[in-house]
Amino acid sequence: MALTKLGTGYSLGDQEIDEQHHELFEMTDRISAAVASRSLNVAEELAALMLYASEHFYSEEALMARIAYPDLLTHRMAHRAFTRQLMRFTDQIHGACPPDWNFFGDFAITWMRTHVLTGNMDIRRYLLEMR
Ligand SMILES: [Fe+2]
Repeated sequence: MALTKLGTGYSLGDQEIDEQHHELFEMTDRISAAVASRSLNVAEELAALMLYASEHFYSEEALMARIAYPDLLTHRMAHRAFTRQLMRFTDQIHGACPPDWNFFGDFAITWMRTHVLTGNMDIRRYLLEMR
């Protein structure tokens, strides 16, 4: 299932963050499609995802800091792990051994789905409890 078809159930209730999640889902879907078709655009899509994800992580971590979210550090570590994995794929793309494209496509979709639907929903619950 494409991530963009998951609907609004993953909303944090913060417009900026929700829009960023939507864009991240779309980007991940584009990467998945590029991987499936063995398109040469994968490297470009990956670079775009890394840049956008880092901007989003900054925004999301700033939100967590503002609300004194107790699991900020754990959540930040998940962001860093995702970024490190994307950097590994980037290194592989430009290295001698080709990356495992299927693993990469699955990783991106699984991470995004798991992170937004579980980790980020913990933030949503915390926000709701604060009100
Ligand atoms: Fe996050």
